[in-house]
Amino acid sequence: MRIHKFTTHVNRDKTKKPLLALLKPGKVVSGEWLASRLNISRQALNKQIAGLRKKGYSIQATQRVGYKLLALPNQLFPELISATLAGQFVGRRIFHFPELDSTQTKAKELASRGHPEGTLVIAEEQTAGRGRMGRSWVSGKGGIWFSLILRPQMSPQNVPLLALTLSLAIAKAIEEKLQVPTGVKWPNDVMAEVPGKGKKFKKICGILTEMSAETERVDWVVTGIGINANNPLPKELQETGVTLSEATGLEIDRVSLLQAVLEKAEAYYCRLMNKGFALLRKEYLAKSILKNQSVTVSNEKERFEGTFSGIGQDGSLILLTRSREQISFHSGDVTHCGKVRAGR
Ligand code: BTN
Repeated sequence: MRIHKFTTHVNRDKTKKPLLALLKPGKVVSGEWLASRLNISRQALNKQIAGLRKKGYSIQATQRVGYKLLALPNQLFPELISATLAGQFVGRRIFHFPELDSTQTKAKELASRGHPEGTLVIAEEQTAGRGRMGRSWVSGKGGIWFSLILRPQMSPQNVPLLALTLSLAIAKAIEEKLQVPTGVKWPNDVMAEVPGKGKKFKKICGILTEMSAETERVDWVVTGIGINANNPLPKELQETGVTLSEATGLEIDRVSLLQAVLEKAEAYYCRLMNKGFALLRKEYLAKSILKNQSVTVSNEKERFEGTFSGIGQDGSLILLTRSREQISFHSGDVTHCGKVRAGR
């Protein structure tokens, strides 16, 4: 068995500030002050400073003056995410790994060991990232790859609503944070408008939902979310996919984007649990890139053509075929072939 090195962070005692919270970026703070605030010796302080430097924090030390935080590491470290994360439970316990086969595997293991709702597993890179329908998910450095443990009180057949709701939340978070026009594509893709391509949307995020349930009761759901941020995309994915860095022309601040995504995910999840899917369904449809599109829905066995005609209360896709028959799909892959022409 491979043993992974990971950092974990649980926000329990908010009054006890860690060293990092006392080091103000660009501001000098004296060693004496730091040691007294932390209630530790100067020697112990030096050890902690060395520990932060080892993790990639750049800290300038000037004799008889103090310490200055110059730069943060380019990592999704739990302490960076927690520092200014709003919300009640999503991201309150974070496991961070430099590398994992898949965050799904680790999160499912933690979920079955009883870790609470809102626990996150993040990896800087995945060696065997998994996508929907048994596909692999390319997950090199620079992306945002994480799995979220949820324990929704809902029946197993309603679990697909979670992915729809979370894809909507992520689309909104990205649009607000980065001012990139986004859309959702059934069942659980988040799309971004590619600059200079006349309203062409490409995939920036995929969601994979796995669960453990009895007939009527869900024990846990692990939602795996992959966001293409600063990671390079292999050539074969560039036709349908894009990274946020390409869509904005900027290097993405992954920590603050992940915070925005987690906060929105919590808010939308609570809306789903408290008020149901009816209102979210309207919002989802308003953001759907499949509206008025002629589409093909396929699974392993069959392929159907028609017009996207909405989303059911249960989250299924409703297709109107050429023979005016309505078919509901609970799973499948959708390709869209452009706007429906009049008369069809
Ligand atoms: C899809 O669109 O097919 C879903 C992709 C889900 C990818 C994420 S990345 C984090 C988590 N770990 C995995 O192995 N997969 C999900």
